[in-house]
Amino acid sequence: FNTPVSSSCVRVSPYACQRRTPLRDINRIFTDAFDIMAENYEFWESKGPRVAYQRASAVLKSLPFPIVTMKDVEDLPHLREEMKYIIEEIIEDRKSSKVEEVRSSERYKSFKIFTSIFGVGLKTTEKWYRMGYRTLEDITSSNCLKFTSMQKHGLLYYEDIASYVTKKEADAVERLIKTIIWGFVSDAIVTVTGGFRRGKNIGHDVDILITCPQKRDEIQILHKTINSLKKMNLVLFHDIVESTFDDTKRPSRYVDSLDHFQKSFLILQLQKEEENTYIHKPNKSEAQRSWKAIRVDLVVTPYEQYAFAILGWTGSQQFERDLRRFASHEKKMMLDNHALYDKSKHLQCCELQMIVYEFLGIG
Ligand code: CTP
Ligand code: MN
Ligand code: MN
Ligand code: MN
Repeated sequence: FNTPVSSSCVRVSPYACQRRTPLRDINRIFTDAFDIMAENYEFWESKGPRVAYQRASAVLKSLPFPIVTMKDVEDLPHLREEMKYIIEEIIEDRKSSKVEEVRSSERYKSFKIFTSIFGVGLKTTEKWYRMGYRTLEDITSSNCLKFTSMQKHGLLYYEDIASYVTKKEADAVERLIKTIIWGFVSDAIVTVTGGFRRGKNIGHDVDILITCPQKRDEIQILHKTINSLKKMNLVLFHDIVESTFDDTKRPSRYVDSLDHFQKSFLILQLQKEEENTYIHKPNKSEAQRSWKAIRVDLVVTPYEQYAFAILGWTGSQQFERDLRRFASHEKKMMLDNHALYDKSKHLQCCELQMIVYEFLGIG
């Protein structure tokens, strides 16, 4: 028997990067509700409330005990009154009227579908919604919409991409990419990051970071890798973004800003190793195919920035946001996916993520 953990002996840090969060979320009924609220605020582009709900959700995800009474949440950080009200509703009748209203609203449902299409962001979703489109069928059967190449492929492989990537499939992608890259740069370092590095057993894509110790060898890796994948007929879609890194610039002040590494957003065709690779019941066309479309992000970084890149690409989003907030508010430093700055003193050549943690005094 584990000793039961109660709310009275748990102190929860306001920073996600100072908390241990178990993989299994025992307060899912509450965090799902908060995640829906956050998502809906995101769909309305209300950043403040979105971040507030994401932050509160992350606090609940870190709890080692199930929430049973309001007393369990009274001392927790980042929980606003309206959020406590939702918790209270769920404690009382297992659901919150406010959240159910959002979940069943036409706008939320359409936005959820449209934004889940690869290549479709909020701007496109808003436009389609304003034009009166509501369902995936409305979109695919429309004669007047123009799609980018990314969106066309996102629609073509929608079912595959919307179903989760399993750990097994991620391992297969990792082996494939390593074999190809080690064929031309034998000392390249290839690391799966994102949710799988956090120990999750499903994800929406496979995030892979690549570097090599030999300076400037890394520059050709991405193009060569994609060419090899193409020769093997495994590329269903690819989009290369070249590096825009400028080492005269300081890390971004904006906690949510994107990084400047060279990267590629791919859809790869992965041979099915066994019948049951789908979490959901596969539809006819999926069941007939011998392969599945998988979203893969490849990111190439200079060797001296690799530790920061790994740190930044491991997630979760809240962990990253709080790590940056912690660096800036508590340590007067700036952290992004490229470097950690101590005002004027630029810290370079950190080969280990631990050095970054140690430097920030967390771990
Ligand atoms: N990330 C980033 N820059 C980007 C895209 C992503 O720094 N241009 C970070 C995100 O903050 C996240 C990680 O990389 O921490 C992985 O992103 P993503 O694949 O979207 O999320 P996962 O946590 O891997 O979850 P999922 O299973 O849904 O893929
Ligand atoms: Mn991911
Ligand atoms: Mn994601
Ligand atoms: Mn990704």
